[in-house]
Amino acid sequence: PVAKSLFGLDDLEEKIRSTYGLKKVVVVPGDCEASPFTKRELGRAGARALLSVLRTDDTVAVTGGSTLSELAEQMTAPMSLSYRDALIVPARGGLGESVEFQANTIASTMAKRIGAHYRLLHVPDLLSEDAYQSLAHEPNISEIVQIIRRSRIIVHGIGDALEMTRRRRLDDETVSKIKSAGAVAESFGHYFNEQGKVVHSMLTMGLRLEDIIRTEIVIGIAGGKRKAKAIHAVLRFGQENILVIDEAAASEIVREI
Ligand code: F6P
Repeated sequence: PVAKSLFGLDDLEEKIRSTYGLKKVVVVPGDCEASPFTKRELGRAGARALLSVLRTDDTVAVTGGSTLSELAEQMTAPMSLSYRDALIVPARGGLGESVEFQANTIASTMAKRIGAHYRLLHVPDLLSEDAYQSLAHEPNISEIVQIIRRSRIIVHGIGDALEMTRRRRLDDETVSKIKSAGAVAESFGHYFNEQGKVVHSMLTMGLRLEDIIRTEIVIGIAGGKRKAKAIHAVLRFGQENILVIDEAAASEIVREI
């Protein structure tokens, strides 16, 4: 990759870390768009970053997506620690995505791999106002939503805004609204413009914007040159603490700083 000759991985990490005041940035070599191996390494680095801050009695909220799915597969608890009292939950309802990429699936895989507990949220990703109101009053659902909203750690994927509107099969009207608002990134069900401002939000159950802002540790994980703009926008939103990306995305981001 071109950028490697200009910047080492450590330089990329430090440049992004200091520009955005992050606690930690991890850059894995390569481009996960081009190589499944890099995607696996990204997942592994994400798992390691999560384990480095995970307490044995933590509650962790996770989003969906293929990158988070890799991360979940790579979780292995150190022999010396028991996560029996930890709880993994989906960040939001997410029955819109294919099963293996749903936050529920990722939460349960992750929990099983480290011997933690998990709770699931069985509601669609995108709700009508009526459905939202009635589900919000279901005791079982509101109980799990309260737990999700109090998570100490969030681990989330980042996507290109338009790609996510397609993946979620949003209707034409919503897509053009999102487009004309200048959205470049999607994360946690929110669409962000280049300046990191939320320009559109999906009505979904689970984590809200204000929860993300007060959450102690927010870990973002994403890779690929095509996602650089999206990752950059989420960095400008300013709630990230730990960022795990690949070299392809990192070099683009540094070019734009
Ligand atoms: O739909 C869940 C989600 O985490 C989105 O918020 C994000 O944009 C996307 O998945 C990332 O998916 P992938 O890792 O497959 O690119």
